[in-house]
Amino acid sequence: MEKKIALVTGGVGGIGAAICKRLAERGHFVVANWILPGTEAKYLERMAAAGFGKESTAVAFGDVSKFDSMGEMVAGIAKDHGPVDILVNCAGITRDATFRKMSPEQWQLVIDTNLTSVFNVTKHVIDPMCDRGWGRIVNISSVNGIRGQFGQTNYSAAKAGILGFTKALAQEVIRKGVTVNAVSPGYVETEMVAAIREDVKQQIVAQIPAGRLGKPEEIAAVVAYLASDDAAYVTGANLSINGGLHMYA
Ligand code: CAA
Repeated sequence: MEKKIALVTGGVGGIGAAICKRLAERGHFVVANWILPGTEAKYLERMAAAGFGKESTAVAFGDVSKFDSMGEMVAGIAKDHGPVDILVNCAGITRDATFRKMSPEQWQLVIDTNLTSVFNVTKHVIDPMCDRGWGRIVNISSVNGIRGQFGQTNYSAAKAGILGFTKALAQEVIRKGVTVNAVSPGYVETEMVAAIREDVKQQIVAQIPAGRLGKPEEIAAVVAYLASDDAAYVTGANLSINGGLHMYA
């Protein structure tokens, strides 16, 4: 497969960085989006240690919850490296609370960052992808968008919204050579999961048939497949990677 330009939002995070590394291993040029100061330097260090320097990867600052910020970021990537061929919408946060205790701010921040972000970024790359006749969009949803999770009405709603977005856009752009798919990780070894209260986390792990958390690399491998030429006929799909935690037909 020829070298493509990939953009991974939240690319400096737990799952995002593993996706960046896997796409770089496939020979692509990977741009990792970041927002929290320090995360970009750490990412570049880790990539360099893995043998991926300036010729393979770069970082791009931007707030995924802001439409104009994403417009500027995508324009900057196009100018410096070329148009985005592969977009992985991976940026996400949690603000867990039972619904009765959830504030309007906790609701809005999660909807803006996890769902509206997908609009904000995709909108800026979709026309050029359709014009060039090739594109791959992979949206990171969650097991909790499919089954719902106690304490996550905001997150579950945003992640379920991503699945609807994926299926609708997939129908609109497949004839232009652009596929749109979702990946729904279960509980993965990341800082996000590490932040869950220990007693609650133990209860969750006890319910996973695989008996363990997932690894970021196990998510990245599936994203890399969906981003490849081999997956040209896969669109509007959702691939669950959750150790058997939740299954649906
Ligand atoms: N189902 C039913 N009842 C439950 C329950 C569950 N799953 N979990 C807790 N309860 C009950 C408790 O037993 C308790 O009952 P009593 O009042 O009768 O004692 C009551 O609900 C309150 O429970 P908590 O003490 O947990 O409530 P809290 O306000 O202290 O904590 C919370 C709420 C912060 C949301 C906490 O429950 C929590 O952290 N839950 C886990 C949320 C979670 O899974 N987040 C995933 C983060 S990782 C991620 O999001 C990545 C991904 O995609 C998978």
